[in-house]
Amino acid sequence: MEIRQARNDDLGAMCAVDHAGNLEERGGFIRKSVHEGTAHVAVLDGGVVGYAVLEHTFFERGFITMLMVGSAYRRRGVGAALVRHVECLCKSKRIFTSTNRSNLPMQSLLTKLGYRHSGTVDDLDPGDPELFYSRQLR
Ligand SMILES: CC(C)(COP(=O)(O)OP(=O)(O)OC[C@H]1O[C@@H](n2cnc3c(N)ncnc32)[C@H](O)[C@@H]1OP(=O)(O)O)[C@@H](O)C(=O)NCCC(=O)NCCS
Repeated sequence: MEIRQARNDDLGAMCAVDHAGNLEERGGFIRKSVHEGTAHVAVLDGGVVGYAVLEHTFFERGFITMLMVGSAYRRRGVGAALVRHVECLCKSKRIFTSTNRSNLPMQSLLTKLGYRHSGTVDDLDPGDPELFYSRQLR
């Protein structure tokens, strides 16, 4: 598996990986991330199977704003490899991310990779608080 910065010609494949989201809204986010150089894709057998977006706008700390693996490619280590890849690109000493309380797979992945719970924010998604996680990198 290769992980590299996303290019304009990955846009279609990145949107196709992401069946769950509102395609119009998510498509705009993906396009912006690719243009800003914050999106990174995992490529397997020549096809995009997942992507991660790392931004540095959260209190000037690295923050994984999105991690997405195509449903047919989950539980094969792609998500963990993407997280490890963007950790290497993170410019801050601590990296952050967040996920809904209902998202047990993401919480499980983060715990496995050594992240710890840094706090909770209510009132983003009604009835489904946002759990923030972080990991010290150096
Ligand atoms: C969360 C997500 C990115 C995980 O990607 P993945 O490629 O399946 O994860 P990995 O194969 O690298 O899993 C690493 C570890 O995470 C944990 N994990 C991943 N999926 C899990 C699940 N469904 N249930 C329980 N634990 C899970 C396990 O500990 C796993 O290690 P193991 O397979 O050796 O037990 C994927 O499920 C996904 O894209 N979900 C939809 C988008 C999303 O919710 N993104 C996160 C919020 S931005």
